[in-house]
Amino acid sequence: MYYKTFKLVALTAGLIVSPLALASGDAPSLLVGTCISCHGPAGSSVGPANPSIAGIMDNEDFVESMQDYRDDKVPSTIMGRIARGYSDDDFKVMAEYFGSQKLVRAEQVYDAKLAKKGKKIHNKYCEKKCHEDDGYSKKKGVLAGQWMPYLEYSLADFHDGLRKTEKERKSGNGKMEKKLRKMLDKEGVEGLKSLVHFYGSQTKSK
Ligand code: HEC
Repeated sequence: MYYKTFKLVALTAGLIVSPLALASGDAPSLLVGTCISCHGPAGSSVGPANPSIAGIMDNEDFVESMQDYRDDKVPSTIMGRIARGYSDDDFKVMAEYFGSQKLVRAEQVYDAKLAKKGKKIHNKYCEKKCHEDDGYSKKKGVLAGQWMPYLEYSLADFHDGLRKTEKERKSGNGKMEKKLRKMLDKEGVEGLKSLVHFYGSQTKSK
């Protein structure tokens, strides 16, 4: 009896959570319900290890990112397993939904001095043609206001040459990796840290 009640409560709780979370963002279907449990309501994550995915990239890049996870082309802790359950058409629906949401940036604890240094490093190595508009541009993925621990892991992956775009893998030439190496040669690991603090300091929505 106890078990039955518990199961019922757990089931009901699950049922209640999804529609509520979905209602806040006009989700097209239940397809994105799973995503929201980690990536936050309408894709603005509330936890530092799960990246926000609301309005952070173009739809095409979003689909490619999901395909890369599914086909094990990029390393991941969790997304590889999740992406395996969906088709390309599903990815398109997800991309459209999350792509049209507005990113809600959380207040994060950052070091103002490092953030200031990070802005300079950003301008020198990251802004031009890629992460334009102080990292707010969607063109190569929004960095401004992303979770700091997530940024830290991702940058480390890029640095290790693991996370490349399809084009980069084909040409064997990772632009992002090259830039990062250049930056690290000059600024050291503190350069990476400064960048993370700069992006973490950005809470304004644009
Ligand atoms: C259990 C938690 C969890 C669930 C559920 C989940 N994600 Fe993720 N997602 C993550 C984590 C953690 C990462 C970082 C990569 C990794 O380590 O797997 C990530 C990364 C991503 C990224 C890449 C973001 C970037 O900055 O490049 C996209 C896009 C994404 N997820 C979309 C989705 C979609 C769409 C769904 C629903 C089908 C989903 N995720 C479900 C945890 C989750």
